[in-house]
Amino acid sequence: MKGKRVERGELNLGQEPEERGAEESLRPQNLDEMIGQPRLRENLSVFVQAAKERDEPLDHVLFHGPPGLGKTSLARIVATELDAQFRATSGPAIERPGDLAALLSNLEAGDVLFIDEIHRLSPTVEEILYPAMEDFQLDLLIGEGPTARSIRLDLPRFTLVGATTRAGLLTSPLRDRFGWSARLEYYPVADLEKIVARSGGLLGAEIEAKAAQEIARRARGTPRIANRLLRRVRDFAAVRDGDSSNVRLDTTRFALERLDVDEAGFDGLDRIFLSTLVEKFGGGPVGLETLAAAVGEDKGTLEDVVEPYLIHCGFLTRTPRGRVATERAFMHLDVPFTRA
Ligand SMILES: Nc1ncnc2c1ncn2[C@@H]1O[C@H](COP(=O)(O)OP(=O)(O)O)[C@@H](O)[C@H]1O
Ligand SMILES: [Mg+2]
Repeated sequence: MKGKRVERGELNLGQEPEERGAEESLRPQNLDEMIGQPRLRENLSVFVQAAKERDEPLDHVLFHGPPGLGKTSLARIVATELDAQFRATSGPAIERPGDLAALLSNLEAGDVLFIDEIHRLSPTVEEILYPAMEDFQLDLLIGEGPTARSIRLDLPRFTLVGATTRAGLLTSPLRDRFGWSARLEYYPVADLEKIVARSGGLLGAEIEAKAAQEIARRARGTPRIANRLLRRVRDFAAVRDGDSSNVRLDTTRFALERLDVDEAGFDGLDRIFLSTLVEKFGGGPVGLETLAAAVGEDKGTLEDVVEPYLIHCGFLTRTPRGRVATERAFMHLDVPFTRA
């Protein structure tokens, strides 16, 4: 067992501090507490056990998939399962090569270094990472101009855990240096039900089975959203029923209605995206740039957050000629299906 876990520079972009605190308290702490992703959990447990038996650090791991599915939680779980120190940073937080060099040279043998949003590392920073990952060596440039020389330092053997919503944006030399790359999938309703029940327990609230199911069905396949809906529904239970320790189905339905989450679990942006595609562009095909402009949303958000779920649900396909709404999408919007 190592000493206390050190964390620094961890970013949790786009979230309020209150949400962040609530999220921390609901994180699964080890592989057994983690619900769902059976294949990934099994593989991870084999790799962890094998590394421990060989008394070697675990090979570098990349977790990728849409936001809120458990990448950060898994990175911590890797450290816990290895009894290793956890150090966290993120791609945008590392501005210069020197920042990364300092981080690397402070690592201890066996540490887990977590880099969130690893696709956002700058190319010069990334270059420091290649020899560090491959040979546990750090190339430092001393001095400037004609007298500059480079020296090599040995680094302790560590495990890099990377997380990204966009595996496709990783350069291939970086991608190739991970020994294992695992994709997180959207969670089936049954798994989300278990997650809601577990979170309810941690929050000191009894959730009626039917209420847990209702939240799970509308959580967009995403544990972070399930937990967020649960906290809001609990607020309604506290105020409307005067009892936040018991969450009933009727209160849940009422709350979800108020929260503007529809039957399919789509949120406002999902709906605007779909209705724009179907009603303005006759279901496509239409290019992403054009859609983004019409929707008034950043292209990256559409690609990272909105589209993967709509594709997962069978409402959208990506074709070489652009985005296309499926018949199901037309049905969902109550628009007669036509294809140009
Ligand atoms: N498999 C899981 N079981 C239980 N809770 C989970 C699971 N995956 C994610 N969560 C919950 O969802 C929240 C978001 O997960 P996180 O690991 O931060 O996602 P990501 O890093 O992929 O955006 C966590 O705080 C945790 O409470
Ligand atoms: Mg994360």
